[in-house]
Amino acid sequence: SLSAAEKAALVCLWGKVAGHADVFGAEALERMFLSFPQTKTYFSHFNLRHGSPDLLKHGGKVLNAIGYAVGHLHDLSSALSDLSDLHAYQLRVDMGNFRLLSHSIQVTMAVHFGSEFTPVAQSAWDKFLSAVSAVLVSKYR
Ligand code: HEM
Repeated sequence: SLSAAEKAALVCLWGKVAGHADVFGAEALERMFLSFPQTKTYFSHFNLRHGSPDLLKHGGKVLNAIGYAVGHLHDLSSALSDLSDLHAYQLRVDMGNFRLLSHSIQVTMAVHFGSEFTPVAQSAWDKFLSAVSAVLVSKYR
């Protein structure tokens, strides 16, 4: 679980992302699609070109869901229950892809926050995104 310092780092960096969730989210998705091209197969109905409204809109949804989770650290499974149903029963996204999105989100933070993305912040985001991913795949069978 997260130390007090890690929780503080998580909340602090989320505060800087919150007003720009669509831009950060679109960048994280674009990094994932470029680095791990197999992830594009789930989004064949999207325009994946740089700066496309689809990327911004979906990026905003994903990062705002993450922000909501930052506010519900004590109760991630119920906070993310509907999203967990969606990913497990409807979308059936391969479980391995959650690692790839988590990685792309962290690289996006590193690029934007530079030295503010400290070892403590990185470890906090890594653990937190693993916990979010674990909830989103918890209903797979
Ligand atoms: C939809 C969050 C991981 C594929 C969504 C939505 C949210 C979300 C908020 C929109 C739900 C709605 O409209 O009600 C997340 C979070 C993730 C995650 C927080 C992990 C941290 C992934 C991964 C993939 C994926 C790894 C595939 C590589 C999709 C697809 C949709 C979707 C295909 C539907 C898009 C559409 O047609 O509008 N996700 N997601 N998700 N997600 Fe995820």
